[in-house]
Amino acid sequence: MARVALVTGGTRGIGAEISRALQAAGRTVVAAYAGNDKAAAEFSNETGIKVYKFDVSSFDQCKEGVQRIVAEVGPVEILVNNAGITRDGTLQKMDRDMWDAVIDTNLGSCYNLCKLTFQDMRERKFGRIVNIGSVNGQAGQYGQVNYAAAKSGIHGFTKALAQEGAKFGITVNAIAPGYVDTEMVRAVPPDVLQKIIARIPVGRLGTPGDIARGVVFLTSDDSDFVTGSTLSINGGQHMY
Ligand code: CAA
Repeated sequence: MARVALVTGGTRGIGAEISRALQAAGRTVVAAYAGNDKAAAEFSNETGIKVYKFDVSSFDQCKEGVQRIVAEVGPVEILVNNAGITRDGTLQKMDRDMWDAVIDTNLGSCYNLCKLTFQDMRERKFGRIVNIGSVNGQAGQYGQVNYAAAKSGIHGFTKALAQEGAKFGITVNAIAPGYVDTEMVRAVPPDVLQKIIARIPVGRLGTPGDIARGVVFLTSDDSDFVTGSTLSINGGQHMY
């Protein structure tokens, strides 16, 4: 039977491409999304991928969501923690809500979903977890203390959980994308974005497919010796 892969934020942007790529690799994919019903319905109609609506920052909603997925599709063997938001602003202008929203959604979600799927993976002696970090978690970014802290936290979380999963056949890795052509990046002021692109040696933004291909590799059955690593996919913007 095809392994079940859960992709959070899996109906739009990078996540949608990850969902499609895992489906093409023969996985049974389910995609979680938070709010955009229209985009999720279109994605599901187009791909045949089942979609589940829950807020990844809420442990209770994740619990209910995972229970439904397990009952309706099967135990999650591949988890891609991709859901993420930005609330950019200098520290001066960043209120506590902007901090909490980003930490809870981008980092808290990794705790919630790993916690809720790890036991099944341990029992099955197989698991693949990929957490989507960011170049901005590695290098920092002006106006993003919340996002950089959350993404940097993801990289530490990944290395710690990799050690716990190793003896159960569970690998835990991170991907650190650079600037990828998505709605999130298009929201960056154009003059700022131009300066960022000018510093990317490859000379272009990434595509969602650039990231999705990394996820397919890290979740393949025979990638079992790769764990606790961070794969930077950033066009050379930051060599880490
Ligand atoms: N380094 C140093 N100084 C900078 C700077 C930088 N990178 N960016 C801005 N500044 C300075 C400006 O020159 C300005 O200085 P003066 O007041 O002396 O002129 C000051 O900071 C204020 O700049 P703004 O007028 O732009 O301030 P703002 O509050 O309106 O906006 C900001 C600040 C929200 C950070 C805005 O510049 C911004 O959105 N920057 C982009 C942040 C970014 O890259 N986000 C990434 C989103 S995509 C993503 O996160 C995906 C991923 O994983 C890669």
